[in-house]
Amino acid sequence: MVDNKVAIVTGAGRGIGNAIAAQLASEGYATAILDVLDEEEIAENLEGIKKYGNPFIYFKGDITKGTDRKNFTDKIMDEFGRIDVLVNNAGVAPKVRMDILETTEESLDFVLGVNVKGTFFFTQLVANLMIEELDRIPNIRPKIINISSMSAYTSSPSRGEYCISKAGVSMITLLFADRLAEYGINVYEVRPGIIYTDMTKVVKDKYDKLINEGLLPIKRWGYPEDIANAVSLFCSDKLEYSTGEVINVDGGFHIRRL
Ligand SMILES: NC(=O)c1ccc[n+]([C@@H]2O[C@H](COP(=O)([O-])OP(=O)(O)OC[C@H]3O[C@@H](n4cnc5c(N)ncnc54)[C@H](O)[C@@H]3O)[C@@H](O)[C@H]2O)c1
Repeated sequence: MVDNKVAIVTGAGRGIGNAIAAQLASEGYATAILDVLDEEEIAENLEGIKKYGNPFIYFKGDITKGTDRKNFTDKIMDEFGRIDVLVNNAGVAPKVRMDILETTEESLDFVLGVNVKGTFFFTQLVANLMIEELDRIPNIRPKIINISSMSAYTSSPSRGEYCISKAGVSMITLLFADRLAEYGINVYEVRPGIIYTDMTKVVKDKYDKLINEGLLPIKRWGYPEDIANAVSLFCSDKLEYSTGEVINVDGGFHIRRL
């Protein structure tokens, strides 16, 4: 078994997940990453995690596929022997934004498949491994952190599938927080606002304008590092008596204003 604590971060090949994995690696975690991207394609991003010199696994796989989920965790248990943190970050937006009066079953299946089904069944798999390790590893306090979105509670009729999926992720937080509390496994959620990544590059002009016009109390884009810092806070063992908690990392977007 490795001496380091172990963090799994899904979808950490780029963007928010990559910043989270780099942050946790900088704190001494061994990290294990699952992403659909080719390792060579994202070599530079992975270097940002590996440079801290801690044990590292990159597994090319799809969170929606049961065999990939299983092979990934088998590899982690073989090589690292423990799991301290699971960060469910992998997520997709609709390939094309379509009004809810027009969107397709295909688009809904795609978005819910990754964001809800993938997150749910991967959490189920890892939660069972975390329960199993409690007797084996003294003083381990495993944690699960879901990356949802302000879309969990904000209506955007041009990408309803995404909003539905993120509301689903928030319910996954509550369900597992409730179910795993008896094991001392706390479950948290980070709810990002408008964060500058490949996912949002395509709508940069729209959000630049909205931010300039005062959409957010804190007048700037969020960055992946803002999310990574919130995840780090949840990993800190300082919130033992809190589970099912959410941190909004959104420049104050969630505040109702008049
Ligand atoms: N960027 C934002 O403004 C924003 C806001 C709110 C929430 N989020 C959420 O944060 C998370 C990360 O978003 P991001 O902006 O970094 O997006 P991104 O598209 O840059 O990164 C998502 C990562 O997930 C991976 N991925 C996609 N489908 C996968 C699958 N089936 N299996 C495994 N990996 C898969 C991608 O390859 C990619 O590396 C997502 O869950 C997203 O919904 C982002």
